[in-house]
Formats: sequence, C-alpha cells, structure tokens
Amino acid sequence: MNSLKDFLLSWYRRRPGKAPRIVILISGRGSNMRALLEKIREGRLRAECSLVISDREAGAGGLAVARAMGFKAELIQKRKEESREAFDRRLAERIKKENPTLVVCAGYLRILSEPMLAAFPQRIVNIHPSLLPAFPGLRAQKQALDYGVKVTGCTIHLVDAGVDTGKILAQGVVPVLAKDTEETLSRRILKAEHDLYWRTVQKYLERIAQKTP
Ligand code: GRF
Repeated sequence: MNSLKDFLLSWYRRRPGKAPRIVILISGRGSNMRALLEKIREGRLRAECSLVISDREAGAGGLAVARAMGFKAELIQKRKEESREAFDRRLAERIKKENPTLVVCAGYLRILSEPMLAAFPQRIVNIHPSLLPAFPGLRAQKQALDYGVKVTGCTIHLVDAGVDTGKILAQGVVPVLAKDTEETLSRRILKAEHDLYWRTVQKYLERIAQKTP
C-alpha cells in the first residue's frame, strides 16, 4: 500500500509539463549527476532533467549512467578549430532548445565563457569541493590538505566569468582528519556534495518560481 502511495506521489511530483526543467553538464564519472537524477526519480527534487550533456567521451562514465537511468544524454565536444566562445555558443544553442529553468554543472571541467553566461544569466549553478573562497580551481582537496586546514567542505554557487567566484548559494562543512589522503578526503567531501546539491537546486528552483510571474 505504502509503495503504491509512494509511486503515485513520485509520479504526481514528476508529471510532465509541471516540473521546472534542468540540463546537467558533466565531464566525467558523474556521481553528482547520478545523485541528482536519483532524487528526481524519487520525486524529492521536483524537476525534470530533459538532457545531460558531457563534453568528454573518455572517462565520461556519467553519460552511460544517465542513459542507463533512462535520461537523454548527449556528447557535445569542442572541435579543435573552434574557439572557446564558438563552442559555448553552440552549446548554448543546444541547451536553449530544452528551454531549461536551470543549467546544473556537475563536474563539468570547462570554464564557461560569455555566450553561455549571457544565454542563462543567474541560471547556471556549479559545485566545488572546498569552502570557497578558499581553494578555488583544480585539486581543491589537495590544496586543503597542503594548507593544513582542519575543516573544508563543498560550495554550491552561481557561475560567473571567474573561476569558482560566483555568488554562494550553500556550503557544507567536512572535517579534515589527521590521516587523510587526497582520496579519503575527496570521498568524504563527495558524500556531502551528493546530499547538498539536490537540496540546493530544489531551493533555488523554488526561489526562481516565486520570482517568475
Ligand atoms: C566533484 O568533486 C565536484 O565538486 C567537482 O568535480 C567533482 C565531480 O565529481 N566540481 P563527479 O563527476 O560528480 O563524481
């Protein structure tokens, strides 16, 4: 009985045409993407993921995961001769066809340039594995260990033209333990990321809905 109720509730929350749409951008294994898609399936993140895009094929296990979960997923790679801006223009055109409320970067490794930022102002979010503004950029967990901080964590922020500089939406704190390696610390932070990202996306979608007439 309960499972029928859960199923109906989940279906009701996800009914087509009612939920805001998101597009997820990835470059790699996509564990954050998977956590978001699972919450959508459970009806706890009240959104429809109309498309997952990866800019990489090699190592982008996330594409296969998204397809296996029944979501549409495409590989869109930068061509050698293409400038960053030209690629982002092509990417933005493709994303616009989905008419998303929000673009969610989940381990997407390219820095977004003007054509993407202009196409989706205040509508692109990213997750970073440190307490920004500390340790922006690559290997944030190693930066935290090298510095010797006792707590670190993850940050969800709006994307602007800088590297991990946009307005902060939420942060999760994670302890650094004496025996931590980059791997053990990364794993602990990732767990916090998976729990914080969908909640923050949900809240931000609600804020957008309240502002949109
Ligand atoms: C995460 O640590 C995220 O914070 C960073 O890239 C990593 C992506 O991991 N931006 P995954 O692909 O979601 O597993």
